[in-house]
Amino acid sequence: MIGIFDSGLGGLTAYRELHKLLPNEDFVYFGDTGRVPYGSRSYEILERYTKQDINFLISRGADAILAACGTVSSVVLDDVKGSYNVPMLGVVDASATEALTATKNGIIGIIGTGATVSSGAFDRKLKAGGAKEVVSVACPLFVPLVENGYIGRDCTVTKLIAQDYLAKIKASGADTLILGCTHFPIIADIIGDILPDVTLVNSGAAAAKALAKSYKATANKGSSEFFVSDNPVNFDAVARIFLGGETVKAQRIDIDKY
Ligand code: DGL
Repeated sequence: MIGIFDSGLGGLTAYRELHKLLPNEDFVYFGDTGRVPYGSRSYEILERYTKQDINFLISRGADAILAACGTVSSVVLDDVKGSYNVPMLGVVDASATEALTATKNGIIGIIGTGATVSSGAFDRKLKAGGAKEVVSVACPLFVPLVENGYIGRDCTVTKLIAQDYLAKIKASGADTLILGCTHFPIIADIIGDILPDVTLVNSGAAAAKALAKSYKATANKGSSEFFVSDNPVNFDAVARIFLGGETVKAQRIDIDKY
């Protein structure tokens, strides 16, 4: 059983891809909707939240964990994963590799939360892999917009904010952009309309492909369970749109018990 977690809906970008690649595998998903956003938190808080999220998924039977959160992957995952004997993967390495393969001019953009951008984790990977230039922009407002369902291609509010955030990426001449927060692929249409000639790298999907390659299938009931740390109504509604109509009935848990 594969455990996937994020601060909310963003990790569904990884779940959707993994479910497609491993349709017979069992999944347990946790969205920490009671404590979203993660992207403005300190190291200490992120470390605590991450450990609780992982403990919960392991308690449900997960034998591999995907930290489908750019913030957790950039800031704390490397320090936390040594405390567990379950394999764990984040989104940084796989998406940096995909971006380095896609770029032609060597100029790569990265958008993520404030914590992700200030960690420099993506920049280091990209530079080490030979990127000529890396341009990073924090786009924290995308997270509440997605959580509140402002995700349609014609959504005026999200389009306006995206135009402002993405101006620096556009001006940089980047030909490839990593959506380094897993919430962002949910509004990929809007981002793509503003940057039509730029290859977008979906960090959740890139990590999902990497995990699917190394994972040895175990349970094989093909079940998916979803859990959240606050009222599931909003999560279920937006998840349903994003997963193309699949009915999601998330259960609320008390994450402080883990
Ligand atoms: N989806 C997460 C990320 O990839 C977290 C966003 C947030 O909660 O701020 O960074």
